[in-house]
Amino acid sequence: MTLSSDELQAAAKQHLWMHFTRMSSYNDSDIPVIVRGSGPYVYDDKGKRYLDGLAGLFVSMVGHGRTELAEAASKQASELAYFPLWSYAHPAAVELAARLADLAPGDLNRVFFTTSGSEAVESAWKLAKAYFKRIGQPTRYKVLSREYAYHGTSMGALAVTGLSAIKHDFEPLPPGGVRVPNTNFYRAPSFASSSEEEFGVWAADEIERAILREDAESVAAVYLEPVQNSGGCFTPPPGYFQRVREICDKYGVLLVSDEVICAFGRLGYYFGAERYGYQPDIITFAKGVTSGYSPLGGMIVRDELMEPFLTGTATFLHGITFAGHPVSSAVALANLDVFERENLLGNVRSNEAGFRASLDKLLDLPIVGNVRGAGYFYGIELVKDKATKETFDNDESERLLRGFLSHALFDAGLVCRADDRGDPVIQLAPPLICTQEHFDEMEGILRAVLTEAWTKI
Ligand SMILES: Cc1ncc(COP(=O)(O)O)c(C=O)c1O
Repeated sequence: MTLSSDELQAAAKQHLWMHFTRMSSYNDSDIPVIVRGSGPYVYDDKGKRYLDGLAGLFVSMVGHGRTELAEAASKQASELAYFPLWSYAHPAAVELAARLADLAPGDLNRVFFTTSGSEAVESAWKLAKAYFKRIGQPTRYKVLSREYAYHGTSMGALAVTGLSAIKHDFEPLPPGGVRVPNTNFYRAPSFASSSEEEFGVWAADEIERAILREDAESVAAVYLEPVQNSGGCFTPPPGYFQRVREICDKYGVLLVSDEVICAFGRLGYYFGAERYGYQPDIITFAKGVTSGYSPLGGMIVRDELMEPFLTGTATFLHGITFAGHPVSSAVALANLDVFERENLLGNVRSNEAGFRASLDKLLDLPIVGNVRGAGYFYGIELVKDKATKETFDNDESERLLRGFLSHALFDAGLVCRADDRGDPVIQLAPPLICTQEHFDEMEGILRAVLTEAWTKI
């Protein structure tokens, strides 16, 4: 069945519930319908081309339209479309688990698959609780995470998430989520703003203070992204993760590196923890592991955390029907083959300075306050006054981001994200195959649209 553009619009408006979307914003305009992709570009149902500056949703690492990944899916589906990981194994999941264990830092050797990032985050919390019960520390259940950090939407993952605006409708949430400061150096408190190092010590020590305040014996884990997405790509200050690791060791708290966005090349490494030189106890992943050709997520866990589950009747009483799906596992293996063959990590490492420099050019615009990020992952913070860093109030932000920028950037041919869950930012996280020509294209579109935005304030 192929619907015409008009039929697609009508059916979408009548039946499709889009995620995190104000449906009323499409009362008088068309819902964008993306029909195909090729490399770093996607095309809508009218044939218009867009540069995918967000890799879909931080997902399409190898770019769009790779028949090799589609063929891997087809081959696996013909051979064995489905079998569960509940009491059985299948070759694709086994091979992928071994390959991920090999790529992951240190003794992160055990892979528990899920289908999504939220499930990965939630599985890590369940594992932390169950592990501590088994090693005689049953009072540990709380999890620390940072202000504005997004860790997913299922009830447990939402309790870990640090964005109060997306939680209110669903309260009460599972108890135990505790907030600590994030690493937004641009808005560092004045008493800790003289250097990034000083700010990093303060931000890490806030984790220790929170552990002590909450009672160390009640705290199970700290969830941190290598570079925090929500709020606009907060990089870790030098020494931050090393200090956090020390604090976690001192109080027996697990360090969860939530790499749902940062793993698989986003920062030029398979895992963000490698880039910043720290050893997590658990890595959560999803998105880029398959470049989106099929859904998959999971957690990679230190040997020690699995030990209590390896003897007698002990069982981790947790599972998901489609986790480690054969088709998704086969696609992930083919995806990693592309990473190796095309040296995508090398591409990110050798081009990230050029990407950064292209975005830094925008700092000559009055509305661009700060450009931050790493690898192929940047946030551009928009301000009303560069000298004072004054930000927009709620009404202005609403008019600027929702009323103008989101549509204008898309209409100008760029998929990116205009986000005001913290201060207003535009985020970019393109496929890892992008090169300078694509950064120039992004800069050109952003310059034109941000220049116009300034006239509308
Ligand atoms: C850091 C982080 N954790 C968890 C999630 C949740 O992943 P999913 O949407 O696959 O459930 C996301 C999604 O963007 C994320 O960015």
